[in-house]
Amino acid sequence: MSNAFRTLDQADLKGKRVLVRVDLNVPMENGRITDATRIERILPTIREIAEGGGRVVLLAHFGRPKGRDPKESLKPVGEALSGQLGRPVAFAEDCIGDAAAKAVAALKDGDVLLLENTRFHPGEEKNDATFVAELAKLGDIYVNDAFSAAHRAHASTEGLARKLPSYAGRTMQAELDALTKGLEAPARPVVAIVGGAKVSTKIDLLENLVSRVDALVIGGGMANTFVAATGLEVGKSLAEHDLAETALRIVAKARETGCAIILPVDGVCAYEFKAGAVNHTYGIESIPGDQMILDVGSQSVERINAAINDAKTLVWNGPLGAFEIPPFDQGTVAAARHAAERTREGKLVSVAGGGDTVAALNHAGVAEAFTYVSTAGGAFLEWMEGKELPGVEALRQA
Ligand code: 3PG
Ligand code: MG
Repeated sequence: MSNAFRTLDQADLKGKRVLVRVDLNVPMENGRITDATRIERILPTIREIAEGGGRVVLLAHFGRPKGRDPKESLKPVGEALSGQLGRPVAFAEDCIGDAAAKAVAALKDGDVLLLENTRFHPGEEKNDATFVAELAKLGDIYVNDAFSAAHRAHASTEGLARKLPSYAGRTMQAELDALTKGLEAPARPVVAIVGGAKVSTKIDLLENLVSRVDALVIGGGMANTFVAATGLEVGKSLAEHDLAETALRIVAKARETGCAIILPVDGVCAYEFKAGAVNHTYGIESIPGDQMILDVGSQSVERINAAINDAKTLVWNGPLGAFEIPPFDQGTVAAARHAAERTREGKLVSVAGGGDTVAALNHAGVAEAFTYVSTAGGAFLEWMEGKELPGVEALRQA
């Protein structure tokens, strides 16, 4: 893979209408944004374009609407963005047609405009050529700063990049740089930590990782599937028993490629999935039949931390236990803090991503200390699976 992206360094911005694809798909509850990280991440790109005399025209999706739906309007997100940016952000009720054209025509150099949810038009997800052409009318150049939407081959993420002179925004650039350091050209040894509930959602990811990394730590509910596959009792633990063969195949592949698989050697067990549930730690060979494993035990954490000590690079996706119900957050928190410490000491490059992972690292209070924490969910997983992301591929120079 070549890394020949044009960045803002090569863009001539002055007086240009710059269509900037951003990810404003922020979590909202009752009209309130509960995590503004994605907004914060795009500020540098917007500021740089505006300060360079460009006219910023923001394109983004919100939710997964089927047609126009006021509940999925980007308007409130635009207001939050304006607050963070400290400058006005104009809003157009549509991303194509007269409303959009008028709003764009009203822009002066350095102004910022947000267009309504691109997914209000079916042409967006279909990457329809006519819709792409409608969007392209609104800009002179295109900047993509939405790595977290780059796994979608949509009009505003892929089609436009092929239609207009295109550039990677600063967040896209930082993300690609971090991911390259994480898996494509990492300092070795590399350790990956993969957790989360299910093997079934991460089979491709595990298969790719065993051929790329030197050690793979498996935690969370998915570790139970591996433990059970070796014939051990996991009691009432979450486990996908029908995936025993898949688990064994991954272990066999790891043996072939020389990737060490690190599974829990002990588990924190309880009778019920509940915060504060009475719990005991058992060796992995003696999990009681009437209990469930809710976290990795302290001996497992020691082994994981030792694997982190041996590594120069860490890639992390998914919590090691049920971190949302204390005290079953302890394994995840301990390993995350250890990785943060090694990173602070300059001994480790640590890259993490995927929905729950960011929440878990924030919970441990260490997200800032990691080398890079991606705000991407699906895109981060697809990248870990070794897949090409259409939105990234479209930015590469032929
Ligand atoms: C995300 O929230 O992960 C991105 O914005 C992509 O959203 P999507 O999964 O609805 O395409
Ligand atoms: Mg999503």
